[in-house]
Amino acid sequence: RNEQSPFEALGGEEKISELVDAFYRYIAAHEDVRHLFPEDLTHTAYKQKRFLTQFFGGPPLYTEEFGHPRLRARHMPFVISPVQAEAWLSCMERAMDDVHLSGDIRDYMMHRLRLTAHHMVNHPTPG
Ligand code: HEM
Repeated sequence: RNEQSPFEALGGEEKISELVDAFYRYIAAHEDVRHLFPEDLTHTAYKQKRFLTQFFGGPPLYTEEFGHPRLRARHMPFVISPVQAEAWLSCMERAMDDVHLSGDIRDYMMHRLRLTAHHMVNHPTPG
């Protein structure tokens, strides 16, 4: 039987934490998205760690604390075009390089994140 969740396969809580910390360092430096985020990304990273844990089949930490994710609605205050979606994904690719995520689990994660990122697009052009 193979009952391992993606969350476990990718390395669990510690790996998610490292990944998200690396991810927001790239976000903070990316000219196509940094203007959307608060200067202090501590709380943003905290929420994202809890979200990605449940998104990949771990315990429902985000929902326990913040309720239903309603991700598209929560992103509506921000102008997100395909340019921002690709910027977000490129930051995630670089973060995965940094924490040495590779192989099938990386491909699976990027596939799901790519679908979600493009689902967040709410504007045809940047700004
Ligand atoms: C929150 C941008 C895609 C998950 C946010 C915030 C911004 C943002 C500006 C608010 C940060 C804050 O105030 O602390 C973007 C952009 C994306 C994108 C430009 C490009 C498509 C995604 C994707 C996911 C995601 C693909 C999940 C896989 C979240 C979560 C929050 C969040 C969980 C916290 C929501 C809350 O509780 O307030 N995002 N995001 N985002 N984003 Fe994204």
